[in-house]
Amino acid sequence: MLLELLWLTVLGVNIVPFGLYILYMKRIVKNKPWNIGIDFNYEPSVSVVIPTYEEEVTIRRKLDNIAEANYPKEKMEIIIVDSASTDRTVDLAQQWSKNHSKIKTQIICQSERRGMVNALNEGLKHTRGQVFVKTDADCLWLKDSLRNALKYMADPQVGSVASLHVIQASRETSSVKTERTYREIYKWLRIGESKLYSTVLYEGELMLVKQEILDKIGFDEEIGADDVPTAIRIAEQGHRAITAEDAYFIEQTPYTWKEKFRQKTRRARHVFQALWKYKYLIFKKKTAFHRLILPFETYVYVVNPFVTIPLAILSVAMAVRYPWLLLPALFLLISRVREMFVTHFVNSWIMLVAMFMEAGGKEKVTWRKIEEIRERANSK
Ligand code: GDD
Ligand code: MN
Repeated sequence: MLLELLWLTVLGVNIVPFGLYILYMKRIVKNKPWNIGIDFNYEPSVSVVIPTYEEEVTIRRKLDNIAEANYPKEKMEIIIVDSASTDRTVDLAQQWSKNHSKIKTQIICQSERRGMVNALNEGLKHTRGQVFVKTDADCLWLKDSLRNALKYMADPQVGSVASLHVIQASRETSSVKTERTYREIYKWLRIGESKLYSTVLYEGELMLVKQEILDKIGFDEEIGADDVPTAIRIAEQGHRAITAEDAYFIEQTPYTWKEKFRQKTRRARHVFQALWKYKYLIFKKKTAFHRLILPFETYVYVVNPFVTIPLAILSVAMAVRYPWLLLPALFLLISRVREMFVTHFVNSWIMLVAMFMEAGGKEKVTWRKIEEIRERANSK
């Protein structure tokens, strides 16, 4: 009886709150209007900042793509911040800039690699636009992505706008399918949270931030990523960080599980670093961000993954005691159900691995136990 009760409880804790949250956010997406003064004619000056490290393969296509955007070129400047790439990134960018004199382009070369976020702060010293647009070298925009994202910025409440991922992959493998399912759920959650107030999980591939706010807060160099910490700190400043429902970027996703895990555990470590560092904001103010969104996402990303450990163990014990319980597992033959299941567990396990790695510290994951205090304890 104890086993059954425990199993049901753990299963419920793992799935029910998250499921209800998704349903709630879906309702918001469908029924709640954006309470934002969207202005389709808003045309501020923008500084497009691209941090690069060894991007000779992507940089030209990236710059061409920015030049193709549906936005007045005289209101646009491009700033490339390169961290001592040893390939042809800088050469190619310089060549491109010579051939495209209509867009003001600056190339800043750092003397050593201190990471992407450090490069962004370097870029921040040179930006002159009203809106700082961060974008990665390995992603592309649709023609209207920038304009679609900018129109929300007309509202003084909005401090930052991020966009949605259009997944591309050179092969449709199971790793890619899992990513697609994840992104579908992700989209409901981000837009729901954005309509409600402000979102936490964020995308740095195409991310807009008002320059006047960045002049005050910059980017947090203690964290490896620029996305989640920026969203949190924008809300801390009393502004909203939202994901636009109609601004997209295209980025390839790994098709092998090995590379997917490598990419996702790194990103997950950054998410954890940000949630952990800013956990003190939970319940701090009376906004939906502080009272619901940040606490819930912290629960989903930091607490819930741990629940999957006893859940896995208890499920095995239950399957041994009641083999017929494996019958409902036949539902997993339905691809939709299977994908949701796989996505949930893959994400939980990636978060777990990431948190264990973080717990091991950034330099070393293992340590040697302290011999001498044990010796003393033993000799007594
Ligand atoms: N200047 C500079 N210096 N740029 C760098 C460095 C560095 O040390 N390291 C990476 N970059 C650049 C890359 O050249 C690319 O343009 C961009 O930063 C993103 O790097 P990716 O290797 O593509 O990482 P990603 O796809 O995982 O990035 C995404 O996830 C991160 C979260 O961990 C983006 O959303 C990032 O914005 C986000 O922070
Ligand atoms: Mn990338």
